Amino acid sequence: MTEATEAQRPTTRVPPHELPAALRDAGLSNWIREPLDDAVDGRRRIIMPPAAAVMGTPASASQGALLDEARHPDTVFMMGDNPALPKMPERPALKDFFLLRFSPIARSHLLQSARVARLNGLGEKVIMACLVHDIAIAGLLSANHGYWGAQLVAPYVDEEVAWAIEKHEALRYFADESVGYTYPQAYIDYFGPDYLPPDYIRGEYEAARQHRWYMTSRLVTVNDIYSFDPDVTVEFDEFADVVGRNFRQPAEGLGFDGSPVAHMWRTMIWPNNFL
Ligand SMILES: [Fe+2]
Ligand SMILES: [Fe+2]
Repeated sequence: MTEATEAQRPTTRVPPHELPAALRDAGLSNWIREPLDDAVDGRRRIIMPPAAAVMGTPASASQGALLDEARHPDTVFMMGDNPALPKMPERPALKDFFLLRFSPIARSHLLQSARVARLNGLGEKVIMACLVHDIAIAGLLSANHGYWGAQLVAPYVDEEVAWAIEKHEALRYFADESVGYTYPQAYIDYFGPDYLPPDYIRGEYEAARQHRWYMTSRLVTVNDIYSFDPDVTVEFDEFADVVGRNFRQPAEGLGFDGSPVAHMWRTMIWPNNFL
């Protein structure tokens, strides 16, 4: 931009640096750089993607370039509220994560599963489990999502609900004709028709099969529907009563109650923090 143009169009934008080649080559120009128009305090804030998200991908090559970028005096790493995300309330409740953090597809999947469970006349433990069964995919991590999800909610739900969430991951791979559950077409699409789950998953399934809460988890899989019909909208408040009775919302807010999993909720509040 020439000096003359600059004078005509005053701007608070921070001058862009040359995009490092490593970032450009990895196609990260839009992902890791906060749009300059949103620069806070006259400084760009850049995001270091977490190792779990980029390991094994071209994006992992960006680490050095990002560290170099942060040495510019007008550039800092993201810490705290990311302007690209809605601000969370001081004391977030489960509903806030659904509405302000989870993607429309993830939110819809969870809400529709819970609705189907309710329409099927199932008990509140199953409905509650369905409502949050993929909460880890929605907000944290996909790999091992049953285990992450169960840990996230364990301090706040009945032990049986957390167990059902943990085990649904393994049970999804194995049919149970007694309740009409077949191997998901979605998994054939996602992983190919020849995919076999690893031994530890089979072991988890076989152990869960013998457990007294088996059917609770199995019913999560039965109601784990893959209907992403955009015309179907389910409001979170449809389950306000179930959540009120089955989820012990901490008064300090999720992330701030000092529970063993508070850090996991804080990670969903500020997912882009450098540390
Ligand atoms: Fe799942
Ligand atoms: Fe699911």
